[in-house]
Amino acid sequence: MAYKIALYPGDGVGPEVVAEARKILDALGLPLEYRALDWNTTLYAKTGACAPADYLEQMRPFDAILLGALGDAKNAPDHVSIEPLLGMRKGFDQYVNIRPALLYEGVDCPIRNVKPYDIDMVVIRENTEGEYTTMGGRHYAGTPHEAAMQVSYFTRMGTERILRYAFETARTRKRKHVTSITKSNALKYAMVFWDGLTEEVAKDYPDVSLSHMLVDAAAMNFVRTPQSFDVVVASNLFGDILTDIAAIVIGGMGFAGSANINPTREFPSMFEPVHGSAPDIAGSGKANPIAAVLSAAMMMEFLGEPGAAGKIRKAVQLHLAEGKVRTPDRGGKNTTSEVGDDIRGKLEKA
Ligand code: NAD
Ligand code: IPM
Ligand code: MN
Repeated sequence: MAYKIALYPGDGVGPEVVAEARKILDALGLPLEYRALDWNTTLYAKTGACAPADYLEQMRPFDAILLGALGDAKNAPDHVSIEPLLGMRKGFDQYVNIRPALLYEGVDCPIRNVKPYDIDMVVIRENTEGEYTTMGGRHYAGTPHEAAMQVSYFTRMGTERILRYAFETARTRKRKHVTSITKSNALKYAMVFWDGLTEEVAKDYPDVSLSHMLVDAAAMNFVRTPQSFDVVVASNLFGDILTDIAAIVIGGMGFAGSANINPTREFPSMFEPVHGSAPDIAGSGKANPIAAVLSAAMMMEFLGEPGAAGKIRKAVQLHLAEGKVRTPDRGGKNTTSEVGDDIRGKLEKA
């Protein structure tokens, strides 16, 4: 039986990096069946919608979704174009967003005195609630009473399950440490609630150590001592912001892959780079495809092909350590597709 993959390239550099990820998947010799979705802001320009109204139903039969990036402000407002992304995370109950940050050999780290593999953390980001609810509204437009309200919403079930996932993840790792990120000095309802549940859940994991950190200090420490983090668990918004920092300390946005997981497997999970559509470099062949390639590795692992995932990661590692073929973010002159070709070439040795 073939794995059924929905390819959702999207906008900007999305199609460029997804093409390279597919090139590498195709070289693995596994039974993979694709459907390419042409849902993006070009479709919006034509039809007034970035995706068909029944987009969730159309994706439901797939085993996994490999996404590039959504959004091109030239064609559609960002909060409209990214709707299917947030819609999938919520609609498919992909409540865990796994965002690893590993510093590979051969990559320039902007932080002093850090050696390859010193930075090895994984951010477990809550992906379905928190600050990303659609509750709120705008009122009294054009009057002196004009107001906007954006509601944060934390449930016991939603918070507890992400915390448990973080502790379970820590259990599988050498350092077995969880850092829980909040802002409970200022957000005294939701974040104090989160802290309390963290303490509760931690009792079931006596083998895992725990520390709490305020998000402002965490932003500072992600730059000052990124090597000090093992598993980091954070709310939707805090996890979003911190993972751009985690990406830049391991070399840039082009290195950070991610997985949006529905752990019960009732619905398909979705795999995508942490980065966006990078309109500043789109269409120029400058995008680094490694984030997309590493996301594809996470997808193969989730589909039950850890051997294929390991092979992809090893090929990326060999490619980076050799350092001959480099996109401009690594100070090179090679194109997105030349990097993809080089990684594919390394699969044989992986
Ligand atoms: P971005 O991640 O697209 O770009 C930030 C910076 O990182 C830019 O300088 C860009 O050139 C660089 N960069 C990104 N990917 C790169 C790659 N693969 N190789 C080399 N450099 C890379 O963030 P942004 O500029 O804030 O957002 C652009 C658009 O993307 C917006 O419409 C935004 O809403 C959307 N967005 C989508 C997603 C997603 O689909 N998951 C994620 C983030 C942003
Ligand atoms: C990400 C992106 C999205 C998010 C945007 C596009 C809504 O920044 O996946 O990191 O905030 O989750
Ligand atoms: Mn983001």
